[in-house]
Amino acid sequence: MTNKTLVAYFSKGGASEEYAKVIAETLTANGLAVEIRNLANDIPDITAFDTVVLGTGVRMGMVYRRWRKVLKQKALRDKRLFLFLSSGTAIEDPNRAVEKFLRPVVDKYGLKPASLISFPGKTPEKWAKLDGQKETMKPETANAWAQMIASQIQDKRA
Ligand SMILES: Cc1cc2nc3c(=O)[nH]c(=O)nc-3n(C[C@H](O)[C@H](O)[C@H](O)COP(=O)(O)O)c2cc1C
Repeated sequence: MTNKTLVAYFSKGGASEEYAKVIAETLTANGLAVEIRNLANDIPDITAFDTVVLGTGVRMGMVYRRWRKVLKQKALRDKRLFLFLSSGTAIEDPNRAVEKFLRPVVDKYGLKPASLISFPGKTPEKWAKLDGQKETMKPETANAWAQMIASQIQDKRA
């Protein structure tokens, strides 16, 4: 195992992109060979990777269609897989966001992720004004999750 790691994301409002960067930086700092890819540019072939971290946002109750394209690759079932979501629901209730938006996709594609997580997304400015909330992002949560991923990979390596 070379432990090549792919971090790929699709983001409309920028939250998933920011989290993907934090995750990629943390994994790199832990000595892993990381490639980060924006799915807006292309859908990468995942066969070359041992570990795959995939992130998306959600709008109108749906994770992004472009992101779901990666999930269709059969080779994903042989990878160590980690999924993350950025969502408004996760600002209040991260577990609910996972169950509502990620779990149905995991079941649909028969995936076996080692970990699923949701991070608080960005609140569009006009909504933020209404409820007075400004900064919702929690990069430290993504950093902690990536540390956990790194130690899982390193445990298996030893
Ligand atoms: C038009 C619109 C619709 C949204 N719909 C939902 C939703 O149904 N559920 C939810 O939890 N968050 C919703 N959100 C919040 C987004 O999930 C949040 O902005 C997140 O940052 C999106 O990820 P991204 O920034 O990586 O695109 C919505 C945001 C917008 C702008």
